[in-house]
Amino acid sequence: MTCDKTHGNAWDRVFNEGGYDIQVPDPLVEDLLLRYVPTGQKNALDVGCGTGRHIEILKRFSISVLGLDISHRALLVSRRAHVVAPLVRGDMEHLPFPDALFDIVLAWRVLHLGNISKIQGTFFEIYRVLRPGGVFVASVRNVDNALALLLKSREEPVQSNTYQVTTISDIRGTIYHFFTDEELENLLKDLEILYMHHHELEHTRYTRNIGLKNMFTVFVARKPS
Ligand SMILES: C[S@@+](CC[C@H](N)C(=O)[O-])C[C@H]1O[C@@H](n2cnc3c(N)ncnc32)[C@H](O)[C@@H]1O
Repeated sequence: MTCDKTHGNAWDRVFNEGGYDIQVPDPLVEDLLLRYVPTGQKNALDVGCGTGRHIEILKRFSISVLGLDISHRALLVSRRAHVVAPLVRGDMEHLPFPDALFDIVLAWRVLHLGNISKIQGTFFEIYRVLRPGGVFVASVRNVDNALALLLKSREEPVQSNTYQVTTISDIRGTIYHFFTDEELENLLKDLEILYMHHHELEHTRYTRNIGLKNMFTVFVARKPS
């Protein structure tokens, strides 16, 4: 399995130092699953599952749920929190699963973590592991996001709307990309978009007190049957 070591280490440090401090499930995930996914699906994957806060929700829709994350530390915290599901250390860009295995893929607050080619590779991988008719539910930071505006004022972009963080100690070393709607629609062009809206999602501690909205684009897309 290929793992982006530097990026993985950066995320281990984020979890070691409490930089990612959201623990309760996002109610929007359950709302979207209720609206777009029939219960009784076979296999679900939580890509970038972090400490596993959405695993129990996924279990209501699917017989088997698997979590994948690049951070060894995040998976350790999940196990200590008694998350009961197989948890795999791996990179979203190289999913260690056969084609068409999953009926549901959730990728919450993770797909923006990388440069543009990593993101393109990841969308391709998710498409590959979804079964025809399977549903992809995700949220990504967009160009109006609080962190986007903060990084724009402090750092040089490494690519368009993309930054390797050097000036925020909680997330130093991580890479963030901020999406436009057009680029997202392009990445999803082979899927049927069922839902796409901007939402203000919960802040992490590195943007909580800067007075800007934490804007994400949330989507649900289905692989054609
Ligand atoms: C902001 S947290 C979100 C965690 C979880 N989805 C949630 O909603 O709480 C981002 C997660 O993505 C993981 N991550 C970052 N890059 C990754 C990659 N290339 N492959 C898999 N996981 C990755 C991090 O370790 C972290 O757990």
